[in-house]
Amino acid sequence: MTLQGKTVLLGVSGGIAAYKMPNVAHALKKLGADVHVVMTRNATQFITPLVFETLTNNRCVVGMFEHNEKCEVEHIALAQAADVLLIAPATANVAAKLAHGIADDMLTTVTLAAACPKLIAPAMNTQMLQNAVTQDNLARLRGYGFTVIPPASGTLACGGAGSGRLPDEELLVDHVLRAVACEQDLRGRKVVVTAGATAEPLDPVRVLTNRSTGKMGYAVARACMLHGADVTLLAAESVALPPVPFVKMVSFTTAASLFAAVREHAMNADALVMAAAVADYRPASVAAGKIKKTDTALTLPLERTEDILAWVGAHKPGELFTCGFSMETENLLENSAAKLKKKNLDLIVANDLGTPGAGFGVDTNVVTLITADGAEALPLQSKEDIGHILARRIAEALR
Ligand code: CTP
Repeated sequence: MTLQGKTVLLGVSGGIAAYKMPNVAHALKKLGADVHVVMTRNATQFITPLVFETLTNNRCVVGMFEHNEKCEVEHIALAQAADVLLIAPATANVAAKLAHGIADDMLTTVTLAAACPKLIAPAMNTQMLQNAVTQDNLARLRGYGFTVIPPASGTLACGGAGSGRLPDEELLVDHVLRAVACEQDLRGRKVVVTAGATAEPLDPVRVLTNRSTGKMGYAVARACMLHGADVTLLAAESVALPPVPFVKMVSFTTAASLFAAVREHAMNADALVMAAAVADYRPASVAAGKIKKTDTALTLPLERTEDILAWVGAHKPGELFTCGFSMETENLLENSAAKLKKKNLDLIVANDLGTPGAGFGVDTNVVTLITADGAEALPLQSKEDIGHILARRIAEALR
């Protein structure tokens, strides 16, 4: 994911959380953005402009009437150049001024002049945040089209705990990515993604499971979210990845619980991407107590689970786009094409476990996209990039 070619305007006002913003500026710059920082005078009490200038290679603007080498009307030039504006932290004072069109310093003036998407992250003491006047101002800003980033809860610099913390730097960067990184070609679309390994209990201690880590499904969910979709991620309880921001997370354990979740969430969606590795068999019975060992071999009777995608393929409303994954160790194309047909899918993403860089646990994959029209082999690339290719494919199919 990149912000190459994008100009991000960062507004920093005078709260203690200003100390976190160099990390945000640095992360945005690393993603390829041209980052310009505007600070209020109060913010310079917490952190110096030089820090931002060093990290962004751009002049950090504070005053309205500073010398400007290009002799341009700086607040207008900055506002026009911006693809997105993030004000973080926003004090109660800055939020109040912006809510009433007061433009008495560079940050508020640039904001008033900017027509790009505007994100504002209020951060302050809990009482100040909960004060009706602050809440009114934030509601007003929402009404004017600002995205108000909800403050996080936890310990506050003023002592005590509550709501009012600036969210983590990573989440602020994700807000910027969501606002401008991708074409919003899935806006208004509901996409359900499944990820991770099912776990079938044998007794209260043991499960039958597989090696799926959920990375591929999480990458697809994140990509669809960045393309503007309303995403529900059905994630195996065993997945050890952080939740995908801005995505509804629903957890499952067994194939039966995933089947129930798919029926509940996917049948009225626009697309279903089944990246989960689903058990084909489960123990025919689950022992109530721990199975004790004996000196003889143990044979476990297994029974079939429901083939979820095949069920969806047979019952889906015509407009539901369905995408399966197929992991094979031999006859990749032939076996995968057969699954496409048998499960009535629009697309199947096939990968060969034997290919270096493909499969479980790694951040890359080597896949072939198979549809009724043919197969397209993609080169080795990150699961993130494959997620974006799939997001675009889904958008094209739904168009
Ligand atoms: N799948 C499913 N329900 C199952 C098994 C698999 O919905 N009980 C889905 C998987 O999520 C995947 C696709 O079907 O998207 C293909 O899964 P795969 O395990 O490769 O194929 P199977 O149909 O299980 O066939 P086989 O195990 O014989 O390869």
